[in-house]
Amino acid sequence: MFEDLLRGWDGELVAMRFDRPTGSWMFVGLHSTALGPGFGGTRVKVYESPEDALRDVMRLSSAMTFKNAMADIPFGGGKSVLAVPSVPTGRARRELLLRYADLIASLGGSYVTACDMNTTSPDMDVVSERCPYVMGTTEEHGGSGTSAPDTAIGVFHGIRASLAHAFGSDDPSGRTIAVEGVGAVGGPLTDLLAEAGAKVVVADIDSDRAGAVAARVGADVVDPSAVFETPCDVFSPCATGAVMNAATIPRLRCRVVAGAANNQLATPEDADGLASAGILYAPDYVINAGGVLHLAGYERLGWTSEQMTARLAGIGDTLRQVFETAERDGVTPAAAAQGLARRRIDSA
Ligand code: NAI
Repeated sequence: MFEDLLRGWDGELVAMRFDRPTGSWMFVGLHSTALGPGFGGTRVKVYESPEDALRDVMRLSSAMTFKNAMADIPFGGGKSVLAVPSVPTGRARRELLLRYADLIASLGGSYVTACDMNTTSPDMDVVSERCPYVMGTTEEHGGSGTSAPDTAIGVFHGIRASLAHAFGSDDPSGRTIAVEGVGAVGGPLTDLLAEAGAKVVVADIDSDRAGAVAARVGADVVDPSAVFETPCDVFSPCATGAVMNAATIPRLRCRVVAGAANNQLATPEDADGLASAGILYAPDYVINAGGVLHLAGYERLGWTSEQMTARLAGIGDTLRQVFETAERDGVTPAAAAQGLARRRIDSA
């Protein structure tokens, strides 16, 4: 099964290691180093089988190639998966991370890691004890702090670009925008939208959080189960992945889908489903690039906050280019983004 998976993948390499003390499998997927070292986070997760973890690391590292290319940073695509029997804590976790750090170190800088699902900045501090190829450590260890507010700013610019394409004006004032998930990104995004005069509707499975954000900005709250059919100009998924699928797309009452969540499309065909429904889709990895811009910009590229501000605004420009290319070529924005990223990678 490993043979079939690797043979069918267009990435550069997968480094793998069995961690005997914990019974975990470590996979580092390096999809492309054409634009620079592969950069992407470390996911700790319980999988049904090592094969599922390998499939995931290949898929996730490919996605990082396209995300980093569209963010126009000198990094390629990589990702790590630690497929654990159960998510470790305490000393076992620390020791697993140190052994994992040795694996990254052995790749000599061709892969740079960061946080992902089930890993946090203190985990990256542990990794940094053994190797320098890590971003997203705590600020005490030289890290750049949470990327979520910058991700929100990037999404805000992306929503403006989407409004401009859909309605001819990028002004959020008077537009109704439904935000699904008002956590670290969706919360500050809601503030930005409300400040710009949008009528915001929020939904969160944490009803206290939804209520607090709504009270802060004067938004309406809807039940998470009803958010898809909320009439709005923009639906902004900022919670979990795979929210755009054959069951949800027919329920949407919006003109635009533009939000922070990773992997919004359950299948690639859902991009066609959105287009057929007359809904403009801002490809997730383009609009949510603020996270990688924050990490790479502050921790590797020496950007000032003025440069960061400009690059976050640039997410809107990139999306405009994606929408124009899609319209010109008669393809979905997802296909247009893929094509633009491919061109950047191939011309490196
Ligand atoms: P978070 O965990 O702080 O917030 C997520 C919020 O969504 C929580 O308030 C949670 O209660 C809510 N939620 C979960 N399931 C829900 C559901 N089914 N319906 C309604 N609400 C639900 O996460 P964060 O950092 O705000 O990230 C949000 C999304 O953006 C994630 O998909 C993440 O992968 C993506 N993202 C985040 C970046 C960052 O810099 N934090 C960067 C790029 C992408």
